[in-house]
Amino acid sequence: MAVLNFGSLNYDHVYEMDHFTQPKETQSSLSYIRNFGGKGLNQSIALAKAGVDVFHAGKVGNDGQDFIDYLKKYHVDTRYLVKDDAQATGHAIIEICKGQNRIILHGGANQDIDEGQIDETLKDFSKEDVLLVQNEISSMSYLIEKAHEKGMMIVFNTAPMNEKVFSYPLDKVDLFIVNEIEGAGLAKIETDDLEKIIEALKETYPDRKFVLTAGESGSFYFDKDTCIRQDIYPVEAVDTTAAGDTFTGYFLASYLKDKDVKKALDLAAKASSITVQGKGAAQSIPEISDL
Ligand code: RIB
Repeated sequence: MAVLNFGSLNYDHVYEMDHFTQPKETQSSLSYIRNFGGKGLNQSIALAKAGVDVFHAGKVGNDGQDFIDYLKKYHVDTRYLVKDDAQATGHAIIEICKGQNRIILHGGANQDIDEGQIDETLKDFSKEDVLLVQNEISSMSYLIEKAHEKGMMIVFNTAPMNEKVFSYPLDKVDLFIVNEIEGAGLAKIETDDLEKIIEALKETYPDRKFVLTAGESGSFYFDKDTCIRQDIYPVEAVDTTAAGDTFTGYFLASYLKDKDVKKALDLAAKASSITVQGKGAAQSIPEISDL
């Protein structure tokens, strides 16, 4: 069994700010750094650090060789990561303020993934394998359909949540991983009441499995028969970027290995509590030995 993570890779331009920039305001940053990021790349790093065999498929521009080297350093298999000159590598502009962030995305090469690349990648995978996707690449519907035809388990981290999600074949998804905002969006309700979000998701998508992360309220696993809650490990957050990605990678790694949801939620909560204590995206994801 291997995990195929078909996902985004972004250069993260990270600006530490005194306060989030307001409309009509010009504000200097307190610091600037460029990091490796993208929900896809971060989740591949988390899976690999958690001890899973992971293949990262995706696309970078000709400026993106560093991403291939970076993934290889953490033993992520990059044979399905394509580099071409059609588009520059994707990037994100991230404002950090008092431990919180705001992110602007530019898809670039992540939005240049086509059916040909998907066919070329999936031909080497089978029903023993798992497909992990986020919502930062193109051709999502085709990817989900084709992976389902192969009998692969499909895990969808519905981030960032937007209207396009409803055009995907969501009935082919086995496990959704969402935060409370994405969960409410997916259930098409406007509330931050967790019980209502959980009930609405169960009603809208019966027979699906869910992991819901809810900041300080902890995290939940639920399906039509079960609901398991996990507390957070409270720490002082310096930068929450990639906390959700760490949770996804560690949860999935542990869940696939032991099929023990409680243990997987606990490990994921621990790992993401370490991520928020460090600055940046991929580089703040802990090694399993740190846990
Ligand atoms: O989840 C954090 C990530 O979201 C960042 O690394 C950024 O690139 C965006 O994809």
